[in-house]
Amino acid sequence: MSPVRRLSLAMLLGTASIVAHAEDAWVAEARQLATSVPPKLLAVLTREIDQGGASQAIGACQVQAPEMARQASEASGWKVRRVSLRERNPKARPDAWEQAALEDFDRRVAAGEVPMTLEKAERVDVGGVPTLRYARALPVGPICVQCHGDPAQMDAGVKSKLSVLYPQDRATGYSVGQIRGVITLSKPAP
Ligand code: HEC
Repeated sequence: MSPVRRLSLAMLLGTASIVAHAEDAWVAEARQLATSVPPKLLAVLTREIDQGGASQAIGACQVQAPEMARQASEASGWKVRRVSLRERNPKARPDAWEQAALEDFDRRVAAGEVPMTLEKAERVDVGGVPTLRYARALPVGPICVQCHGDPAQMDAGVKSKLSVLYPQDRATGYSVGQIRGVITLSKPAP
């Protein structure tokens, strides 16, 4: 297709097709990784909750989630983390780029966009190093509110365990459909 024809087609179809044309392979790779880890964690959480209840599953989440991120990092070369505007683990505080993504996602959900598909991909300069960055929203589903929901509705055992493990916990009070945080990937650009 000639460039002119492609451009006019893109104009006709809207910005989405322009983005699709311009998308680099690294974005697809980051998206693939970011969408593969959360279902694995969800499977572990669901199993643990079924077996021993939510308070039992806290330990699994505390240990398995960072372990899964570590394994994904090791296998892929991407640095993988989870961060939130209202973090539970003090290590999960966002940097400026992640914070901007999280705030943008919150605004878009408030405006009616579907949280499931919200993502941001950008090539940025980090102290002179060209870096690839990707963030994808982690929406609150029904299972999440057992540990991140309204404290008045949460199980007493869950609350007491969380208060011991995370005295600075800011990650309650969420409802289904909100964004709990993002899974965030970065690596030096090739
Ligand atoms: C059994 C309790 C439990 C359930 C259910 C649960 N979480 Fe968590 N969540 C935790 C704990 C504990 C941590 C802290 C983990 C750590 O120390 O790294 C956490 C941390 C997080 C973080 C990392 C940022 C932070 O605040 O530390 C995100 C993002 C997150 N949870 C999202 C979710 C989502 C989305 C769901 C539902 C799919 C969910 N969680 C379900 C207990 C739970």
